[in-house]
Amino acid sequence: MPTSSAPRLFLLCFFALLSHSHFSAARPHHLRLSAEDVATVEAALPARHLAKAKTTFFEVNRPLHPPRGSSGPCSTLLLSQSFALTLNKPPVTTAYSPPSCLSGGGDVSLAVLEWRADCHGVQYDRIFGVWLGGAELLRGSTAEPRPGGVTWSVHKDVTKYASLLAAGNSTLAVYLGNLIDDTYNGVYYANLTLHLYFRRKAQLTSADSSPADLIVPVSRSLPLDDGLWFVVQNKTDVESTRVAVPANAYRAVLEVYVSSHYSDEFWYMNTPDQNGPFREVTVLLDGDVVGAVWPFPVIYAGGINPLIWRPITSIGSFNLPTYDIELTPFLGKLLDSKEHEVGFAVTNAQNSWYVNGNLHLWLDPKGSPTTGGLISYDAPKLSGSITAHSVDGIDGEYQATASRNISATGWVSSSRGNITTTFAQRLSFANSNVVSNKGSSQVINQTTDAHADVGGGASWRMHQVYNYGASNGGCYLRNVTSVGYDVLFDHNVASCTGTRRR
Ligand SMILES: *[C@@H]1O[C@H](CO)[C@@H](O)[C@H](O)[C@H]1NC(C)=O
Ligand SMILES: *[C@@H]1O[C@H](CO)[C@@H](O)[C@H](O)[C@H]1NC(C)=O
Ligand SMILES: *[C@@H]1O[C@H](CO)[C@@H](O)[C@H](O)[C@H]1NC(C)=O
Ligand SMILES: *[C@@H]1O[C@H](CO)[C@@H](O)[C@H](O)[C@H]1NC(C)=O
Ligand SMILES: *[C@@H]1O[C@H](CO)[C@@H](O)[C@H](O)[C@H]1NC(C)=O
Ligand SMILES: *[C@@H]1O[C@H](CO)[C@@H](O)[C@H](O)[C@H]1NC(C)=O
Ligand SMILES: *[C@@H]1O[C@H](CO)[C@@H](O)[C@H](O)[C@H]1NC(C)=O
Repeated sequence: MPTSSAPRLFLLCFFALLSHSHFSAARPHHLRLSAEDVATVEAALPARHLAKAKTTFFEVNRPLHPPRGSSGPCSTLLLSQSFALTLNKPPVTTAYSPPSCLSGGGDVSLAVLEWRADCHGVQYDRIFGVWLGGAELLRGSTAEPRPGGVTWSVHKDVTKYASLLAAGNSTLAVYLGNLIDDTYNGVYYANLTLHLYFRRKAQLTSADSSPADLIVPVSRSLPLDDGLWFVVQNKTDVESTRVAVPANAYRAVLEVYVSSHYSDEFWYMNTPDQNGPFREVTVLLDGDVVGAVWPFPVIYAGGINPLIWRPITSIGSFNLPTYDIELTPFLGKLLDSKEHEVGFAVTNAQNSWYVNGNLHLWLDPKGSPTTGGLISYDAPKLSGSITAHSVDGIDGEYQATASRNISATGWVSSSRGNITTTFAQRLSFANSNVVSNKGSSQVINQTTDAHADVGGGASWRMHQVYNYGASNGGCYLRNVTSVGYDVLFDHNVASCTGTRRR
């Protein structure tokens, strides 16, 4: 069943910094206001905006509703924690046991992870991550507090991690690298709660949309003095780990989490001496590029001018987007019950990128080994260019373009049949950057076109509607659809109340 998405990411920013800022504009990418700068602006606000009480910041998001007829929520507080001097310290860990409402064998219709946090005083935005059994569930940037305090929350749909949530006892880890000194004294307090909703009665879903049966982390293992992410430091750095896939897997999708920091926090504004503005995360399987992530330029809550992001924060900053790479065409290679190397690199990277992944695997319910083979694979080199027109290396006009195509086709034979899957990515990128006023003003126009198509070759569909009328009331109506071996929709009515009788 082909699925297609063609998001067109567009960023057009005009960044003129506050004229009274103490901010060094010697290089265009030093885009942060100090606490002093922000305090100056806060002090000049009209009285009604002076922060005496806690302010709520928020990211605009689609609200999450459980499917009709669900029961719940069954809510469990997973962690209640303060984060003071936590930078380069081990993540906070706690034992996780599946909530008792999960042990009833109920079918999760919606799982929501709620992160709710507050902070008083002065603090930068900080990056944090939440991992369960080494698999990342949530990554976000914190809100920068105001003098009266700030609070924010994230509700993330984590239904796709249902197998992990139910799997058994494991370790929940949260890393939020915060630093406390005389000026930056804000401590973050956070509560992490899991809300589960269940299907009331056996309601069939298609295997194509149901969560994976197993999630294998592609991250670093505890103990660590950092998050479980890999830290990619430069353009030649490849960070990898070895993973093994069970012999009965029939579908594999790698979900990639990524965030950019320090020299590359504002990668999309970088001039040629900073490796230009193009970045991509490449996914390597035993050294071959099997997929690419062209990240959305998330601006953290304190980025460029923090006042722009108060109280409505920037897209993705409280809940960073993730990216899926379909690895099913490569299952033939992975099904040899040996370990394979899954790695990440970042094209043109400067220090540093935090990258890790979750390998979502769907397993043949019959438990018998599946087999597979790669039919075709084509991943030509990235093409791209940078042009620069600048006299002093700061002010000027910079243009960058990039293009990449990756495609792979492979078959997997399981109890579902012998199914051929194609994964094709077509990516293009254009960035123009006009820098003026000795680097204090930049106009960026960046467009990323990302097309990813997943096509399953051997797919068939059946839709049947039966309507048996009976004068004695024993009528029966059934409306059922299947795709491949999956029953997609099944509606049956035994009593026919309200249906027309023949
Ligand atoms: C976390 O939960 C505790 C206990 O219910 C509550 O006192 C505290 O205010 C909560 N903190 C946040 C940030 O919601
Ligand atoms: C999981 O942890 C709970 C709570 O600590 C404990 O009661 C239970 O015995 C553990 N289960 C297993 C299978 O280890
Ligand atoms: C790139 O980063 C890796 C990992 O930290 C390091 O081993 C390597 O020396 C770095 N290369 C360059 C050119 O800085
Ligand atoms: C990718 O494919 C498109 C057409 O589908 C083509 O225009 C473009 O040049 C290709 N790019 C690369 C780097 O192969
Ligand atoms: C599955 O189909 C592919 C392509 O049609 C074929 O090459 C392969 O031999 C088939 N595998 C099995 C086990 O039937
Ligand atoms: C930004 O770039 C896109 C694609 O190159 C172009 O269509 C658009 O007109 C540009 N917008 C501005 C304001 O320059
Ligand atoms: C069968 O169910 C589908 C999916 O809900 C619906 O679109 C269709 O109208 C139904 N057909 C009949 C005859 O009830």
